[in-house]
Amino acid sequence: MKTVMKKTLLIAATSLAAITGVGLGVAYAAGGSSDYEMKHVHWHFNGPFGTYDRAAMQRGYQVYREVCSSCHQLKFLSFRHLGDKGGPYYDEAYPNPNDNPYVKAFAADWTIQDIDLDTGDAIERPGIPADRFPAIYDNAAAAAASNNGKAPPDLSVMAKARTGGADWLYNILISYDKDDVFYNKAYGGQMAMAAPLSDGMVEYADGTEATVDQMAKDVTEFLAWSADPKMEVRKQTGTATMIYLLILAILAYISYKRVWRNVEH
Ligand code: HEC
Repeated sequence: MKTVMKKTLLIAATSLAAITGVGLGVAYAAGGSSDYEMKHVHWHFNGPFGTYDRAAMQRGYQVYREVCSSCHQLKFLSFRHLGDKGGPYYDEAYPNPNDNPYVKAFAADWTIQDIDLDTGDAIERPGIPADRFPAIYDNAAAAAASNNGKAPPDLSVMAKARTGGADWLYNILISYDKDDVFYNKAYGGQMAMAAPLSDGMVEYADGTEATVDQMAKDVTEFLAWSADPKMEVRKQTGTATMIYLLILAILAYISYKRVWRNVEH
């Protein structure tokens, strides 16, 4: 029994060290230019109980729609996802996002290239919730040609695609040089994207002041969600599983004590 206890304790101690070690030991690695210090945001969605800030996501969608969407696509997203559970415009009254009036209005705000099923002609029509966010350029060459030689990358999973994740995205947006709109300090040089944000560029529906910093945080919140829309559900399931396992362990321990109560061991 004693050696078993010792081993168990050792394993517990090692796992604890490993977990905390990972937590403390990861140096912040992203960032191109050595004299730029990445600004680290305390995102609500990080950590084991993280959730997205719904108001920030809604403002972020507004920034994406009014600013970024003229160049960057969200090809993995359909409009209906905006109204999914956990999404920025989820509403309990509309469990089916296809019926959600916000989602319908946002979809209708986009123009979709389609084919007329009766005549076979190419047509344009307003979007419906089931449509995906449409492509902005006909092809990669056209995208590059319109943007100083570089195609604007898709943003659906950008918050996951780069080292530093959400912080990288946020820092790109706030670290342009004041005198050179193409020089980005976080990137560590010239970009093909000129500084996309300037103070007061959007008028937030909820009255929040639209500073560059605020818009950068909000659009990052929205893009963090688009890169991992199932995060909240996953974390809730994880927590429930941990609680279940803990109760199971306690019950197992109690029954172990009972069964061996009168036995010398
Ligand atoms: C006028 C077109 C245009 C607009 C508007 C625009 N971008 Fe860009 N963006 C680009 C181009 C082009 C690149 C590629 C730059 C490069 O690699 O040099 C880029 C690159 C980026 C990158 C860097 C990706 C990487 O490689 O790490 C991010 C992040 C980004 N854009 C986010 C945004 C966000 C968020 C918005 C809205 C606030 C926005 N962009 C608005 C054209 C645009």
